[in-house]
Amino acid sequence: MTTRHLIGLLLGTEDDWPTAFTEILGRLGPVPGPGGSQHAFDTERITIEPFSLRDRPRYQLVIDRLAYWYYHPREWLKKVSLMDGVYLLNSPFTFQSMEKHAAYCAMMRLGLKVPETVLVPYKNPLDNSRYAYTAARYNKSFDLDAIAEKIGYPIFMKPYDGGAWRGVSRINTPAELHAAYDASGEMLMHLQKAIDYDVFARSLSIGAETMVMRFQPDQPMHSRYAVDHSFLSPQVGTEVVTIGRLVNAFFRWEFNSCETLVSGDQVYPIDYANACPDVALTSLHYYFPWAMKALVKWCVFALVTGRRARLDLETDRFFTVADEPGLSYDDKLAVYGDLADAYFDTARYYDFWSGLQPRLDEVVLDWIAGPDFDQLLVRTVRSVYPEHEQDQFIAHLRGLMELWVREETARLCTNP
Ligand SMILES: Nc1ncnc2c1ncn2[C@@H]1O[C@H](COP(=O)(O)OP(=O)(O)OP(=O)(O)O)[C@@H](O)[C@H]1O
Ligand SMILES: [Mg+2]
Repeated sequence: MTTRHLIGLLLGTEDDWPTAFTEILGRLGPVPGPGGSQHAFDTERITIEPFSLRDRPRYQLVIDRLAYWYYHPREWLKKVSLMDGVYLLNSPFTFQSMEKHAAYCAMMRLGLKVPETVLVPYKNPLDNSRYAYTAARYNKSFDLDAIAEKIGYPIFMKPYDGGAWRGVSRINTPAELHAAYDASGEMLMHLQKAIDYDVFARSLSIGAETMVMRFQPDQPMHSRYAVDHSFLSPQVGTEVVTIGRLVNAFFRWEFNSCETLVSGDQVYPIDYANACPDVALTSLHYYFPWAMKALVKWCVFALVTGRRARLDLETDRFFTVADEPGLSYDDKLAVYGDLADAYFDTARYYDFWSGLQPRLDEVVLDWIAGPDFDQLLVRTVRSVYPEHEQDQFIAHLRGLMELWVREETARLCTNP
């Protein structure tokens, strides 16, 4: 008996990864499950339409890249999660903490090295009839310069819920501080101590797996992820992975990207709440096949093993470790790593995939090396870049994907 599972894709403008995901699942074919069962997978792009709160959805799992700004599907996600047990990557119930601010608070509470951060009140009056009275009565005047002095220049000023560099500035002097605050208008801003870093590590986590990539934030989008396999020492690499997995397990995010500044052997987390992460072919390039495999693997694992979504955070399990007297930072990270493994069911995940991995590897290599993927690459570049840049970017992306194909072919020859 084959059980069919329907995976819903809630999408914005993207066409690249949904095509890749569907293609790989289709080529992988049915997968064996416990007790001799067989499992087959279909995907469908979800449309936005009226729904009765008592309707039964057809999907068992939904990957969401839309509800962070579009509220009708967000409310549908809440309904299917609460009422129908649909498995979500990610649950909108965790969105409340999807701004940087809540992630900073959680990480500080857990003892991580988040740089010193202060939240200052809005610069401009809020558009609310109660504001003038409330502010006159309760807004305490404050000395912005003294706050900055205490943190110590240079400082980053950035929105508490930011994304895409909106409103981010690096500040070296009191004059720049005032100019940036004046310009912040109705945005709510953090002041954060700038870290003088050697490397910027951006990790993408999908379920139990994490890929740490060297990130170059000052480069244009297509060159931000550098292909570099050994830019962190093994110890720092493990620490970066553990912090990412910890934050994801803490908030129940199963599809997230995290940003860490590394200075010497010190690891400073600065942005851990991107729970609708960018997985575009044009930005991930070489790492795109890894991301698609990890997404397929996690969805298949969750569906075949009947993984249940949890809506509660059970934060005490983590806070107990944070509060344990006598545990060093390294000791705590080790226990957090175990808690994250328990949440992601890591051992079972790798066990589940061990027999199937060679087939998946072969399917993905075959597809990426073939003409269908090349057509997707060309189509994607044409939809992203202006006409006069398309040839250049097609060649650039082809070069990176050829590199992946060469390295992957060699890897599969040495570890078949
Ligand atoms: N404390 C810091 N020390 C050093 N650099 C920082 C710090 N905070 C932010 N930056 C720099 O500013 C950039 C943007 O900051 P941040 O990631 O917090 O904003 P964002 O709007 O989420 O940007 P993105 O969408 O690129 O992640 C970072 O990629 C980093 O280069
Ligand atoms: Mg960021």
